[in-house]
Amino acid sequence: MLPGPNKLFLLTAALFGHAMALPATVDYYVLPSTGSVLNLDVAASNITYTVQGNDTIHTIAAKYNVGACDLARLNVLSDPNFLYENETLRIPARATFPDDYSCFSTNNTDATATCIYGGPHVYTILPGDTIQKIANERYNITTDSILSFTAQTGYIAALNPGIYDVLETGQTVKIPSCDNSACTMADFTFTYGTLQDFATAYNVSVGQIMSLNLGYNHTDYIAPLGVVYDCTLLD
Ligand SMILES: *[C@@H]1O[C@H](CO)[C@@H](O)[C@H](O)[C@H]1NC(C)=O
Ligand SMILES: *[C@@H]1O[C@H](CO)[C@@H](O)[C@H](O)[C@H]1NC(C)=O
Ligand SMILES: *[C@@H]1O[C@H](CO)[C@@H](O)[C@H](O)[C@H]1NC(C)=O
Ligand SMILES: *[C@@H]1O[C@H](CO)[C@@H](O)[C@H](O)[C@H]1NC(C)=O
Ligand SMILES: *[C@@H]1O[C@H](CO)[C@@H](O)[C@H](O)[C@H]1NC(C)=O
Ligand SMILES: *[C@@H]1O[C@H](CO)[C@@H](O)[C@H](O)[C@H]1NC(C)=O
Ligand SMILES: *[C@@H]1O[C@H](CO)[C@@H](O)[C@H](O)[C@H]1NC(C)=O
Repeated sequence: MLPGPNKLFLLTAALFGHAMALPATVDYYVLPSTGSVLNLDVAASNITYTVQGNDTIHTIAAKYNVGACDLARLNVLSDPNFLYENETLRIPARATFPDDYSCFSTNNTDATATCIYGGPHVYTILPGDTIQKIANERYNITTDSILSFTAQTGYIAALNPGIYDVLETGQTVKIPSCDNSACTMADFTFTYGTLQDFATAYNVSVGQIMSLNLGYNHTDYIAPLGVVYDCTLLD
């Protein structure tokens, strides 16, 4: 495919950040046709739940006998592994076949790709992140491609971390992108689903979406998210 204006747009946007004018916001309520999403449209029950400090998505799902991913999608959780103490979650109506798996990123330790298509190229570290998690879960690339990237950030270069070392929250990691590749970029308002659902539907990585939305907090989910899609090699 030839590079159109939208493809080139990402290259500009990546340089100047997210503040510049974007195409009109598109409502996002799309679930991937690939993968194994069991319940496409989960209704809310009339129950809400306030997250306790020791809760995980799995403990809450088990408490109400609902699928962890049904709970995650109804509440538009960007990363179902992150919950915030005292946030209110809507409990879904119980599905015949609860979906516990399809909203989570795959921990692909067999990743072979060494670069991503397009960008963005800078990922900001979240609590608990390791090189292994960033590479294999968030971007589906090899850990070595990050560690051996010659244009890596000063933080990573100086630390030279082991792949399971927990990194410092708020520091940055550079993600190598494939030569002559680009994505289309737009703002989407997420009304249902998780970032992994979007990533699966559009063949991009969750890391790419996360890195476009620095500081994004799923409790503010009504704000539009910058997303990339249609990532291709330009040659
Ligand atoms: C919630 O729904 C259940 C079953 O439909 C009903 O019995 C209950 O009264 C409802 N509770 C509230 C607070 O509306
Ligand atoms: C979590 O903490 C609450 C009190 O804050 C307590 O009642 C509950 O038993 C704890 N659950 C687990 C699984 O530790
Ligand atoms: C959650 O709410 C409880 C009770 O209001 C409060 O004591 C606690 O500090 C809150 N936790 C956070 C992280 O805001
Ligand atoms: C991902 O796989 C690695 C290697 O097997 C393992 O050490 C790590 O704990 C896994 N991460 C998660 C979140 O399951
Ligand atoms: C990861 O990338 C490989 C090819 O490098 C691909 O076959 C696989 O489907 C990808 N996995 C995910 C979860 O995107
Ligand atoms: C998905 O994107 C990857 C690059 O990120 C590419 O290698 C792969 O061919 C794409 N798959 C499809 C089905 O388009
Ligand atoms: C997200 O928002 C919640 C609720 O306002 C807050 O407790 C939490 O600290 C925020 N997290 C981040 C990473 O900003």
